[in-house]
Amino acid sequence: MKRVRAYTAMVLVFCVLVIFIYSTLNLEPANTVISTEEGSQRLRRGHDPEGQLKSTHEHTSFTTAEMSTAVLQTVSVSKDLREMIPKNEAYWNRLMHTALKGLDDGDYSFARESPWSLCRVENQELLQLNIHDFSSYPPLLQTFVRGMTCKSPPILIDQPNKCVAANRKEYNQTFLLLAIKSSPRNFEQRQTVRETWGREGVHHGGLTVRTFFLLGNSTQDDPDMSALLSYEAERFGDILQWDFHESFLNLTLKMKVFLQWTLKNCPQVSFIFSGDDDVFVNTPGLLNYLKSLDASKTENLYVGHVISTASPLRDPRSKYYIPMSFYDGAYPAYAGGGGFIFSGGLLQPLYSVSRVLPFYPIDDVYFGMCAKALGISAVAHEGFQTFDIKEQDRSNVCVHKHLMLVHQRSPQQTKKLWRGIHSPMLTC
Ligand SMILES: *[C@@H]1O[C@H](CO)[C@@H](O)[C@H](O)[C@H]1NC(C)=O
Ligand SMILES: *[C@@H]1O[C@H](CO)[C@@H](O)[C@H](O)[C@H]1NC(C)=O
Ligand SMILES: *[C@@H]1O[C@H](CO)[C@@H](O)[C@H](O)[C@H]1NC(C)=O
Repeated sequence: MKRVRAYTAMVLVFCVLVIFIYSTLNLEPANTVISTEEGSQRLRRGHDPEGQLKSTHEHTSFTTAEMSTAVLQTVSVSKDLREMIPKNEAYWNRLMHTALKGLDDGDYSFARESPWSLCRVENQELLQLNIHDFSSYPPLLQTFVRGMTCKSPPILIDQPNKCVAANRKEYNQTFLLLAIKSSPRNFEQRQTVRETWGREGVHHGGLTVRTFFLLGNSTQDDPDMSALLSYEAERFGDILQWDFHESFLNLTLKMKVFLQWTLKNCPQVSFIFSGDDDVFVNTPGLLNYLKSLDASKTENLYVGHVISTASPLRDPRSKYYIPMSFYDGAYPAYAGGGGFIFSGGLLQPLYSVSRVLPFYPIDDVYFGMCAKALGISAVAHEGFQTFDIKEQDRSNVCVHKHLMLVHQRSPQQTKKLWRGIHSPMLTC
């Protein structure tokens, strides 16, 4: 009898044990779900344990690679542009035709970008082999050519939430995005723009204007502006900065990273203004013009001061000097980089063709080439004056009231003109 009781007790203990083990087994998946959720939450906040971050990283780079090939599969370059670029010995021409051939054959190796940290290793010897007079290029142009395939600098100051609505699920509609090329030291110009034509907010008629200043990094010879810039970025929320040297010949890179950034962070934008921080813009006039456009014109708009019959300048002393051995051909009609407008709907196609066209040292010419690749021609508008107006009209407020943009004005002139065009006493 005792034996039977002991036996029953053992069975009972066993059952309890089995139930216990079973319940822990059952609990485990639930636990895993929780911990994964925690993990991804931490991941979103950027504090993830190594392992999980790594696998997410792999996943991201995989999708990016996949996406970039997909992007290239959808790119087509117009016959117009193909015919405009002569097939000859010049370096850029050769790069361009290699890219076009790759595009047609589905061989996208031409579009491979080196990781930023390994960039600029394109050695002197290789370039001298390809460009017979490379060593006679001005030093900055040599630097440009060496870095032509470096296209993905890391971002230093970001504004990821500026275009996102309060519920974080959708983007707030932006009617006009002002993308202003600036440089770390130009605080005075930026502040003038903020106080005048670049004021953010909802303008008359409910049109939202948002402003971004696009900056590179100061060079070693400049004083370190990073502390001031972080303060400025926090105070005004309108600074975007990438880790490349601020330089005239890096403006094409600035355009490329801006297109990419906007596609990701601010895709819901109707029009984009790209321009300098030392121009005067009649924003109310611009908004009226854009609002008045026919629906058929708003989709592929590219408007500004059009330079229609330009070709490369061959004077080595010019800021815009292009040696014959670099590019031999004409320029497309393009809108002067001091300030022009394009449709938000062009962001994606422009970004895609910019993956095909090799970088060019002059950013507005490059933009014109990309537009031409899409079959879009620049529309000339009298109101854009990137080469300034007649000397005697330069302080005439009435003349400015009828303009869209004029280059170039000092901060003081800009403030005066802005007050002037808004004065109720003004009778033009
Ligand atoms: C988005 O729009 C809502 C309402 O229209 C506004 O309250 C909010 O501040 C806007 N967000 C940004 C980032 O402008
Ligand atoms: C670029 O920016 C980073 C971060 O602000 C800074 O540490 C670095 O020194 C800058 N580079 C140069 C060359 O100034
Ligand atoms: C462009 O930026 C890169 C990265 O900072 C720099 O190494 C290069 O010298 C710059 N190019 C020119 C032409 O200044």
